[in-house]
Amino acid sequence: MLYAKITGWGKAIPPASISNDEISVVVDTNDEWIAARTGIRARRVSHVSTAELATIASKHAIACAGLEGHDIDLVLLATCTPSTIVANTASLVQKNIGATGAAACDVNAACSGFLYALQNATAQIQAGMIKRAVVVAAERMTWYVNWAKRDSAVLFGDGAGAVVLEASSEPSGLMATKTGCDTEDRDILHISNYGSDQDKYQPVGPSDIQFEGREIFKRAVTGMSIACDDVMQKASLSLDDIDVLIPHQANLRIIQAIQKKLAISDDKVMVNIDQYGNTSAATVAIALCEAVEQGLIKPHANIMSAAFGAGLTWAASYIRWGERTAPIKTCDYSFPPCQKSGLELINDAVQACKSAD
Ligand code: ACO
Repeated sequence: MLYAKITGWGKAIPPASISNDEISVVVDTNDEWIAARTGIRARRVSHVSTAELATIASKHAIACAGLEGHDIDLVLLATCTPSTIVANTASLVQKNIGATGAAACDVNAACSGFLYALQNATAQIQAGMIKRAVVVAAERMTWYVNWAKRDSAVLFGDGAGAVVLEASSEPSGLMATKTGCDTEDRDILHISNYGSDQDKYQPVGPSDIQFEGREIFKRAVTGMSIACDDVMQKASLSLDDIDVLIPHQANLRIIQAIQKKLAISDDKVMVNIDQYGNTSAATVAIALCEAVEQGLIKPHANIMSAAFGAGLTWAASYIRWGERTAPIKTCDYSFPPCQKSGLELINDAVQACKSAD
């Protein structure tokens, strides 16, 4: 039996951030409300493109695995904020990382995208089609934010995370997974004014993220808990077998509700929403990377991950870690210097949103 072992991991966290106090200057909100209702204390704003975020995370993951770009057979980029649609953004990442022989494809399953892509790449490795893949999730969610609306302005951030998968006979990597899509209410979470359904010769207005927060909240808790239960059953796992839970980071209260339903203790749950907000597909990838860096993921750890996003897509995955929790090599490649603060980076967009409001 072939497995797709995770041998490398890396992330790209933009240097510029916006605190809750700073966002309170932009919209009518305050640190107390944001922290209590969402768990978010700050979010990052990228001064580079989605493709560059993905490139940085991928380069770190490849070095961590002790590989070079040309060793990679497939680049799957999970994103709903692609730099370009045609050509796909993954093709630029493939070029940037020197994976000249690799196939390259974007995957859009919104916040569930990383787990969808992980499933896809794992299946290709297990089928013997490829030997090594980079699965990267990168988002510039702040690009979709309407800075005149306090419901969305406080929630989202930018960033990227990546893993390298390698064919292995060792039972590790994605061991069981379930993905799905509850499409009936797909309109409760969407980007306005986007895509070929628009009349391209008429002005349609900005593409903003729009959602019904309370509905999504309920569905996210129920959907992710049921999916986790299903996957644990499929893998014959009990709750005691789970060492780490890596949930999508959309709201701390959603994470706590899932944790309560699954009866998992605080020390087993990876939370970083306080620092980054919701980075859509990238949340799970970044959290996985930081869980290893922080020692939460130990050799041979059993990891449950779950995500929920527009579509309404959902996914739950059981991942078994390998022996190694330290990088084989490190990589110096990083962000170009950023001369602006987070607020300065969004200033033009804030002015445009306010004058359109
Ligand atoms: N600051 C201050 N007050 C606010 C803010 C804000 N940023 N946003 C909303 N409020 C107010 C509302 O106007 C409302 O006031 P009212 O009672 O006077 O009418 C009050 O707070 C309560 O509003 P709710 O929308 O009911 O607040 P809720 O507790 O549901 O929190 C939130 C809203 C954070 C969006 C929550 O519903 C949520 O996290 N939902 C799921 C996440 C989500 O939708 N993410 C979108 C991406 S999809 C994904 O990642 C799965």
